[in-house]
Amino acid sequence: MSDPQDGTERTAREWWNSWANHFQSEYGDGEIPVGIAFGPGAEQGDDLGLLGELDGVKAIELGCGGAQFGIGVSKRGADVTGVDISEEQLAFARSLADEHDQDIEFVESSVTEMPTVASETYDIAFSAFAFQWVRDLEACFAEAYRVLKEDGKLVFSVDHPYYKTLDAETGEFERSYFSDEPRRVYSEEFDAEMVIYSRGVGETVSLLTDVGFTVEAIREPGYEDPDCYESEYGSFAPELMATVPPTIVYSARK
Ligand SMILES: C[S@@+](CC[C@H](N)C(=O)[O-])C[C@H]1O[C@@H](n2cnc3c(N)ncnc32)[C@H](O)[C@@H]1O
Repeated sequence: MSDPQDGTERTAREWWNSWANHFQSEYGDGEIPVGIAFGPGAEQGDDLGLLGELDGVKAIELGCGGAQFGIGVSKRGADVTGVDISEEQLAFARSLADEHDQDIEFVESSVTEMPTVASETYDIAFSAFAFQWVRDLEACFAEAYRVLKEDGKLVFSVDHPYYKTLDAETGEFERSYFSDEPRRVYSEEFDAEMVIYSRGVGETVSLLTDVGFTVEAIREPGYEDPDCYESEYGSFAPELMATVPPTIVYSARK
């Protein structure tokens, strides 16, 4: 498993191992629903026209967490592998997949280095709200490129970098779009540090094309009416989400 000198991925693993139970039981209104979900602003179950036909395809979820998305993809007929750095998140994912009677293979690994995952194996790699935790995004994209078959695609969401420049309560700018400093929050309750990266759209596209992908689509789902957002969680404030998209989704082809 990749363990860079600054320990950032170790930090992500520690954070998620400490936070997993809380995250899985108290997200939004309660448990995270099973099904395709790219993030706030994207309708549950809507693949935004990006995943396409899933029946019979081989798919890998990168940063699968509790695998709610992966189970949804598996129920649509795909043969799914889920990868995550946190054994606690994977323990939750395994029991949820069993509960839903879905046969999913889980791999404990950083998405920046997946030595046990064979090259040129998958038709689709997908991910929701995981890559903002990854320090070396280029290594992650290179790994996704490696494990995809020729013509395979990578579809992933992260929080929108413009949304992350704003304070969710006041709607005022609180950081620069250009800042490459990650946000760090230490939690005494969990005795761990949360480290989150925000990359601009141009930077993300460059990282994708640098490893060989062709970017086919970028989506910024959301609603102008704050009442369309079902719940408020952390920095996801309906008034602000109705002004600036909270989620960005990229689709890139090998
Ligand atoms: C916000 S959760 C999202 C989980 C899931 N995709 C979802 O939508 O519920 C982020 C996940 O990314 C995982 N993660 C963070 N850094 C990772 C890395 N370098 N490699 C693999 N997984 C990572 C965490 O363990 C966590 O399960």
